[in-house]
Amino acid sequence: MEMDDSFQQDWQDLIATHPVCRMTRDTSDPPIDAVNIPHVVAMVGLPARGKTFIAMKLARYLNWAGMPTKVFNVGDYRRKAMELFPGHDFFLTGNREGTAIRNRVALDALQDVVEFLASGGQVGVYDAANISQERRKLIHHIIVERLGYKLFFIESICNEPKIIEANIMESKVTNPDYSDMATEDAVSDFLKRIDHYCSRYETIDEENEKTFSFMKIFDAGRRVVVHKQEGHIQSRVAYYLMNIHITPRSIYLTRHGESVFNQMGRIGGDSDLSPNGLEYSKALAKFIKSQNIPNLRVWTSYMKRTIQTASNIDAPQERWKALNEIDAGICEGLTYEEIQEQLPGEFAARDNNKYQYRYPRGESYEDVVYRLESVMMELERQENVLVVGHQAVLRCVLAYFLDKTGEELPYLKVPLHSIIKLTPQAYGCKVELFKIPIDCVDTHRCKPLNCSMNRSADDALITVPPHY
Ligand code: ATP
Ligand code: F6P
Repeated sequence: MEMDDSFQQDWQDLIATHPVCRMTRDTSDPPIDAVNIPHVVAMVGLPARGKTFIAMKLARYLNWAGMPTKVFNVGDYRRKAMELFPGHDFFLTGNREGTAIRNRVALDALQDVVEFLASGGQVGVYDAANISQERRKLIHHIIVERLGYKLFFIESICNEPKIIEANIMESKVTNPDYSDMATEDAVSDFLKRIDHYCSRYETIDEENEKTFSFMKIFDAGRRVVVHKQEGHIQSRVAYYLMNIHITPRSIYLTRHGESVFNQMGRIGGDSDLSPNGLEYSKALAKFIKSQNIPNLRVWTSYMKRTIQTASNIDAPQERWKALNEIDAGICEGLTYEEIQEQLPGEFAARDNNKYQYRYPRGESYEDVVYRLESVMMELERQENVLVVGHQAVLRCVLAYFLDKTGEELPYLKVPLHSIIKLTPQAYGCKVELFKIPIDCVDTHRCKPLNCSMNRSADDALITVPPHY
């Protein structure tokens, strides 16, 4: 048998036996909800083109926006299947064993994507290279024709040597594949690995593959093509990916300085800063100046306390209504103790499900996330930004960057008189917390049962998410 024939035979055998290739919708399965059809987003592209970066960032956004999403990275499956990384030869077109393992783990991952969607997931991100037309045809056959789900390919095409080099340095030499290799050797091995893929790479063909829904991102977003995008999920995905960029920058978050209402323990309202808060406003301006942040933009809410806090900062400022604090409805102006006393049912209901609880004639955290969508999209488009916000609103912003669930979000600690600096990195964010030593009250109310109110704000629940 010729090499090509034996490879083809292996592939046909695998397709004939792998469970994912035999999956089909059962007639007894509940009908698919036409508005919320489960989606597979399948990445396409050569190594070091940002596929994992896009996949993880997209998943973070969709989860934050309330669509259960999970990334399935085929590299992880390969690493589980093989204890030791054998080097670039493993990816050679002529390596029969390597090809067999790669094909098998690719289908294993796809099977997990399908199982995730069958068990309530809304978007499964299939993070593989998917560089051949044949592979994409098979994915389409399984996902669309057999299972009736939606499929959106996202191809990242980048031929800028500088970007590829930076990507290898930023995320490949630190990859578990190369944990035992010197940087120089890792770079050289990775470049050879890219070459092996190049010899088989078929970009999505706008003629041959015109029945597929896909998006092509050229040179890290310099140009984008969207083809046959279907439904609201794909529109959101395409719109989101058109707004992101990889220019290095930092986002600074701070609450307003202590307000008169904070001192009184009252929630909401539109009070002025307290004397401590006014002092913080000056200290914040000094801190920001000391950071020498190029082209900084400052965003505040429409509330007096954020505008006063930012008033000493020498940088262009914009106000956003969407950054106003959560509307506590009939509880505005009360203390937590007064709410517990006067509205015990409401108080308990909020403790029971703080993320979804909506104050009568006010908002829930879920509502705030919804209204922040336009702010987050603009934040993605910008470079250095300082957001002067409020406790609940900044929890929602932080949850987006730190990939926190709806359950964790309303309890994130965002203390007064502190600045949180977020610097996007390969697949997550570096988080730094600067505390300004000016007295202030602690407005954090812990989750009942396992902690007491007004615990020290020093144990801020701010961690650097694990890097993939
Ligand atoms: P592999 O196939 O080896 O898993 P990959 O395509 O998944 O590689 P990533 O690991 O995601 O590549 O590469 C991460 C780097 O890609 C980050 O440093 C990020 O800045 C960069 N990046 C993000 N988006 C793009 C893009 N659209 N084009 C090129 N590079 C990008
Ligand atoms: O107490 C300050 C404050 O910003 C209030 O205006 C707001 O209602 C509250 O924090 C939000 O925090 P929580 O959701 O924990 O009550």
